[in-house]
Amino acid sequence: MQMRTRVGIIGAGPAGLLLSLLLLREGIDSIVLEIRSREEIEATIRAGVLEQGTVDLLNEMGLGTRMQREGALHHGIELRFDGEGHRINFTELTNGRAIMLYPQHEVLKDLIDARLKQDGRILFNVEDVQVSNISTDQPRIHFLHEGEQVELRCDFIAGCDGFHGVSRAAIPTTEHHIFTRSYPFGWLGILMQAPPSSEELIYAYSERGFALVSTRSPELQRLYIQCDPQDDIANWSDEMILAELQVRLATRDNWQLHTGPITQKSILAMRSFVIEPMRHGRLFLAGDAAHIVPPTGAKGLNLAVADVRHLARALARFYTQQQSDLLEAYSTTCLRRVWRTEHFSWWMTSMLHRFPDDDAFQQRLQRSQLDYTVRSRAAAASLAENYVGLPLDW
Ligand code: FAD
Ligand code: DHB
Repeated sequence: MQMRTRVGIIGAGPAGLLLSLLLLREGIDSIVLEIRSREEIEATIRAGVLEQGTVDLLNEMGLGTRMQREGALHHGIELRFDGEGHRINFTELTNGRAIMLYPQHEVLKDLIDARLKQDGRILFNVEDVQVSNISTDQPRIHFLHEGEQVELRCDFIAGCDGFHGVSRAAIPTTEHHIFTRSYPFGWLGILMQAPPSSEELIYAYSERGFALVSTRSPELQRLYIQCDPQDDIANWSDEMILAELQVRLATRDNWQLHTGPITQKSILAMRSFVIEPMRHGRLFLAGDAAHIVPPTGAKGLNLAVADVRHLARALARFYTQQQSDLLEAYSTTCLRRVWRTEHFSWWMTSMLHRFPDDDAFQQRLQRSQLDYTVRSRAAAASLAENYVGLPLDW
């Protein structure tokens, strides 16, 4: 079977779905192809923090109604070390900007709902996706859908299929550079049925490693601890996880973690990764397909949003004004923010984790950096500016 669309979008994650809605708003036809089922996508627990610019964009597109109702606006975070908490006040340091705690899978539910209501062009459960002809002006996507082999002819392909997708691999190795770094630790993440232990997120540095207190709802907490990336989650009993959280988060004034049943636990590896350029011919990569950041800065989803906003604008300019200048500039434009975010995520990660081979000198440097960050207004403002997110047009 043959199908045709202007922009073939591979992947129904935040990048692919938001791109399809941004294009729809400009009157540009697209089809989203996704290997997983709608149910699976809507049940996968991932990121939780939305930057101010992401929130503003979702609101401006009329996609923010549930987020405004169910999400939680946060005006700061706490950095905790040496048994003491220090607040970084975003509102004061960034001229009133803030972040929203609203889980990625809830964002995805809203985006899928909006797209299906508008024209329904998402194909779930597709198989064996391949791209061809990307160096020509008639690229194609081949896939299986409901047992039928389909060829989708497009003007452009948006590779929004995440880190393990097929799009990036279609770029010849001689045509790109890969920059990568892996970290000697991972995050063990849990969901725990208990009311929030803190009104704001807590990023804690301790002798025993990093810990993070986040939240999902008034009844559900999201917590993370640094762990060995090779470790098997089966080695971690609920009691061990709670004990580790309590030691790492302990304060001199006896702060208490609210505890309850742990309903989900998993280990996540951490890496930094960037491909340059983010485009080859008529294939444009966006989101995790092009770059990965360690989760410490809560940036992955937000970076995907920034990419597709540029891509949608560039495609709109191509179709409405027959100009390809923004498409030509796409990779360079995105990479400026990508590298800023890579640096911020690496910096937060390096400051807050224990490295297996660190020595007393390295630890003193980390403590000094933490101390400077909470004591200097300029340093705190830099963290705050990056955390709430630089303007989308930065
Ligand atoms: P994805 O969300 O990965 O979406 C890609 C989509 O493409 C998926 O639905 C996938 O099924 C689909 N796909 C893959 N291959 C194909 C194919 N061949 N054909 C068609 N479809 C395909 N970020 C944070 O900021 N904080 C966090 O706590 C955090 N936790 C994370 C936990 C995990 C386990 C992972 C993997 C990521 C986490 N991230 C986190 C990162 C954040 O979730 C991502 O940056 C974000 O999802 C990127 O969106 P995306 O649309 O680019 O990619
Ligand atoms: C969450 C995840 C992060 O990576 C982070 O830095 C803060 C919060 C979360 O899942 O809530």
